[in-house]
Amino acid sequence: MRLLSAAVTAMALTFGATSVMAAPIEIKFSHVVAENTPKGQMANKFAELVAERLAGKVEVNVFPSSQLFGDNKVLEAMLLGDVQMAAPALSKFQKYTKSLQLFDLPFLFKDMEAVERFQKGPDGQHMLTSLESKGLVGLGYLHNGMKQLSASNPIKVPADVDGKKFRIMTSDVLQAQFEAVNAVPLKKPFSEVFTLLQTRAIDGQENTWSNIYSKKFYEVQPYITETNHGLLDYMVVTSAEFWNSLDDDLRAELKAALDESIAFGNSIAAEKANGDKQAIIDSKRSEILEITAEERAQWVAAMKPVWAEFSDDIGADLIKAAEASNQ
Ligand code: LMR
Repeated sequence: MRLLSAAVTAMALTFGATSVMAAPIEIKFSHVVAENTPKGQMANKFAELVAERLAGKVEVNVFPSSQLFGDNKVLEAMLLGDVQMAAPALSKFQKYTKSLQLFDLPFLFKDMEAVERFQKGPDGQHMLTSLESKGLVGLGYLHNGMKQLSASNPIKVPADVDGKKFRIMTSDVLQAQFEAVNAVPLKKPFSEVFTLLQTRAIDGQENTWSNIYSKKFYEVQPYITETNHGLLDYMVVTSAEFWNSLDDDLRAELKAALDESIAFGNSIAAEKANGDKQAIIDSKRSEILEITAEERAQWVAAMKPVWAEFSDDIGADLIKAAEASNQ
């Protein structure tokens, strides 16, 4: 009897030890930008919060600057279980859903407050589920900011980009937007942009102040025009297979940590829109050009017909709802 209870105790200890020592669940978070960007800071904050709150249960490892996957591969890798979280630009989901193309329409949102209002509303929230049939779960939106045009020549009006080559993300809307002003758009990964600009293989690109600054595009682009013509925003995504494999409490704790990290990332985005623009001005490497209301009207007139071109794919009602968020 004694022997038996000793054996039971030994077994219990062994099992206890095994469960205590079980390896934590690893979340690989892959992204393409530098760490000193809204997305880089959000991902690091998430890793930090999870380390504080879920030590031993979950570990988040962040891979910035396309170290693990570029955005054109990351969603495939996620579906294969090679990465658990990412936050690609909304422009990069068109292979999975057409509706998110909404966010690429030029001159749709007048500012980030309008974007926020739309995303928090019923249509914006519903769009987080638009990837479900493809096995992906949208966990939240994250902001970067409004896009500007950088180039090797000064740009004020649409005629200035005639025949010029611009790098774009993999988005048909962005392609149509540049074709609308007779420029030549080229879909290229973010990791290649600096070299393409430096070697003058392309003439320019569109991006936010924080991406232009953190990836040093301003060092190889003598002009940046403040157009605020479009939005760069992200969706934090995971695979349904991974997300549903977690027990309910853990999933809730991860979601809470993520929501907090996104709020933090959004506050960084707001700061960086001004701070990184100023840092570029201070560097004196690139001249920042402003456009007048009349020049802006020329861009709007040339680019806005793109809305009608994509209205069937996106949904006319969705476009109306997004526009209404400007009021
Ligand atoms: C780009 O490719 O320009 C952006 O999507 C990069 C990013 O993630 O901000």
